[in-house]
Amino acid sequence: MPPHPDPWRAIDRQPEPALYVRMMESRGQTPTQARLRRRFLRFCRIRSGFDVIEVGSGSGVVARDLAALVGPRGHVTGVDKSRVLLAAARRGAREAGLGRRLTFRHGDAARLPLATARFDGAVAVTVLLHVSRPQAMLREMVRVTRPGGVVALQDQDFGTQVLDHPDRALTRRIFEGVAARMYPEPFSGRTLVRRLVELGLERVRLLADVYQVRSLDPFTHNLLRRRADLATRFGLIGAGAAARWIAAIEQAEARGHFVFTFNYYGAAGLKPRA
Ligand SMILES: C[S@@+](CC[C@H](N)C(=O)[O-])C[C@H]1O[C@@H](n2cnc3c(N)ncnc32)[C@H](O)[C@@H]1O
Repeated sequence: MPPHPDPWRAIDRQPEPALYVRMMESRGQTPTQARLRRRFLRFCRIRSGFDVIEVGSGSGVVARDLAALVGPRGHVTGVDKSRVLLAAARRGAREAGLGRRLTFRHGDAARLPLATARFDGAVAVTVLLHVSRPQAMLREMVRVTRPGGVVALQDQDFGTQVLDHPDRALTRRIFEGVAARMYPEPFSGRTLVRRLVELGLERVRLLADVYQVRSLDPFTHNLLRRRADLATRFGLIGAGAAARWIAAIEQAEARGHFVFTFNYYGAAGLKPRA
C-alpha cells in the first residue's frame, strides 16, 4: 500500500524526520502561533498542580507551556507515536529546565498506555486532524480523564484559509485540493464542539481564533511552499503554475501587502461526574 500522504501519521518513516522537529519548533516560535496556543491553553482552564496528559505532543512545544501552567506541583505527560519527536521533546524539556515536570511516553492516541481516570485534564493541539482513528483518540482522552476533569482540543479548519492572491481560482485549487487529499476531515476545527457534545461531555465551550500573518516568516513561507509542492505532486497543477503562485506571494510580501489568515478552533468540556 502506498504511504498515506499526511506525513504526520508516520514521522519516523519520513526521509528526514528531523525536518518535522524543526517545523514544529519554528511554528511554536512564530508570534501569532504562540499567541493562539497560549490563549487556547488559558481557555482550557488547566490549573496549578494539575496532572495533565497531552496527546500527540510532538517536539514538546505545547507540553512545555502546559508545564509552566501546572507549576512545580503539577505534572504533564506527553504521548506521541514518533520516537524522533519524543527524543526532541525530552531534550527540549531538559534544556528548558522542566525535566521533572514533564514525562514523554511512546504510544498510539487510539490506545493510550495509561490508566483510566488518572488525569485532571487531557489536551490535544493539532492532532485529531492527523490521526487515522479520531473517534478512538477522543474516547481514549475521555477514558484517561477523571470525572469532573477537562478534555480539550484545538485544531485547524482547512475550509478557512484566506490568502490575498491575484489568482484566486488557482489559490482555491491548491488549498482545497491539497486539504481534500491529505485529511479525511479537512474541516476538523468546526467539528470539535459537536464531537465533544456527542461524547457526553458537559459544559462544552468553543474558542475560535485566527492565525494571521502579514509577512512570510519561515513557518508561513514553508507552509505555502509545501502546499504548492503537494498540489504539483497530486497532479492538481503544473510546476510552472506552482512557481508563479509562490512568486506572486513573495512579490506581495516585498510590496508590503501580503495577507494570510487561517482559523483555529478550540473546544473544551468536562467529563461527567456520575
Ligand atoms: C502537527 S503535530 C502537533 C504536535 C504538537 N501537539 C504541537 O502542536 O506542537 C501532530 C502530532 O501527532 C502525532 N501523531 C500522529 N498520529 C498519532 C497517533 N496515532 N498517536 C499518537 N500521536 C500521533 C505526530 O507524531 C505529531 O507529533
